[in-house]
Amino acid sequence: MHTNVVIIGAGPAGLMLSHLLSQNGIDSIILEKRSRKEIEETVRAGVLEQGTVDLLKETGVGTRIEHEGFEHEGIYLQFGQKRERIDFPSLTGGKKVVVYPQHEVLKDLLKARIEDGAAIHFEVNEVKTHAIHSNKPYVTYTPVKGASEETITCDYIAGCDGFHGPCRETVTESDCSEYEKLYDYGWLGVLAETEVASDELVYANHENGFALLSTRTPTLQRFYLQVDRKDDINLWSDDRIWTELKKRSDIGDGKELKDGPIVSKNIVSMRSYVCETMRKGNLFLAGDAAHIVPPTGAKGLNLAISDIQILAEGLKERYHNGSENLLDRYEEIALQRIWKAQRFSSFMTTLLHTDVKKTKFERKIQESEFHYLVSSEAAKRSLAENYTGLPIEWGRALAPQYS
Ligand code: FAD
Ligand code: PHB
Repeated sequence: MHTNVVIIGAGPAGLMLSHLLSQNGIDSIILEKRSRKEIEETVRAGVLEQGTVDLLKETGVGTRIEHEGFEHEGIYLQFGQKRERIDFPSLTGGKKVVVYPQHEVLKDLLKARIEDGAAIHFEVNEVKTHAIHSNKPYVTYTPVKGASEETITCDYIAGCDGFHGPCRETVTESDCSEYEKLYDYGWLGVLAETEVASDELVYANHENGFALLSTRTPTLQRFYLQVDRKDDINLWSDDRIWTELKKRSDIGDGKELKDGPIVSKNIVSMRSYVCETMRKGNLFLAGDAAHIVPPTGAKGLNLAISDIQILAEGLKERYHNGSENLLDRYEEIALQRIWKAQRFSSFMTTLLHTDVKKTKFERKIQESEFHYLVSSEAAKRSLAENYTGLPIEWGRALAPQYS
């Protein structure tokens, strides 16, 4: 078997890459270790930047987002019982975000790719990359455990296999630049059958820890609580979760968060990480395979999509004009945006989480940061600009036109 690009991983990065390549007449094969059902049911991100939504719409996979996504024109930031709104359109010249679950984006992309006859192999095992420094790289895998190995030869390999996938190891096992910060806390995420808690997302800093009120549908809500990174989910009864959510989001107006059945709960740990070596030979890393952010800035999926836009443009130039100039600048262009998203995610995380190691002085500085932020037009504009999404800085390259 031969193809232009073997894509490892059918998350947002892998599926979007396959979609953009196919729109430009470039063949790809996707190898994915999970089943389609699992991919379509895993609950993760919720907030899509304007640029992500525009790209999905411009490339023909935005119909459901248009009808089922919820446009949000702002967020609330809360410190103790003081809640302040940041208005995006007035601060950014009209930008908004859309609340639309990651797994729904994946359903839309999968449907489009499968209807288009794409080669996507689900539930594969033992995916390995080979000869990445040659112009004949190849990937081996077993379609079913114990079956004989299959080989796909290609021109390029895209490692879109997330933070725990094997591709980054191929890059990091030799010389590479890595940067990492681990946090002492994690997020306990729940899906609860109850009414919408707030018209827009609430990011709350409470002395007991951070809380986030988000949404999925008018009857299903997504909430998060800051917990210890080593916390045990079994110690969090539904009652304990509701008590903390109510306490941390209370603004003293007598209106309490309405509880209901919790249909799923899990804890995710948080880290900031960048592998600056995003290309080794003809293997490219994109999305969570190359970097990870704490979810406080809602940036991970959006960053995966902007990596892919740059990579797809580079591959387009290579296949249409025979030039690798843009592919050679993939890392450089992508890292500009990645570090800005890292900065913003780290800022939001530090602003909003309670750290037991903080001194009384540092807690006061955190409070003062909040008061400055909500009272300064310049600070609010900066937050709104980052939250709704910064542009890709193409430098000498031309930004692509999709529609
Ligand atoms: P992934 O989604 O991890 O996809 C990688 C794929 O590769 C997976 O399907 C995996 O099964 C496959 N794979 C792995 N190993 C192999 C292998 N050996 N062989 C074959 N396939 C393999 N981001 C936002 O932008 N906005 C948000 O609001 C937001 N909220 C979040 C909330 C939470 C609680 C979490 C955990 C994350 C959130 N994120 C958010 C981040 C976002 O979910 C990720 O950044 C995004 O999924 C990255 O996409 P990806 O395609 O790079 O990687
Ligand atoms: C979500 O709805 O899952 C969500 C929203 C905002 C974030 C992170 C996650 O910052």
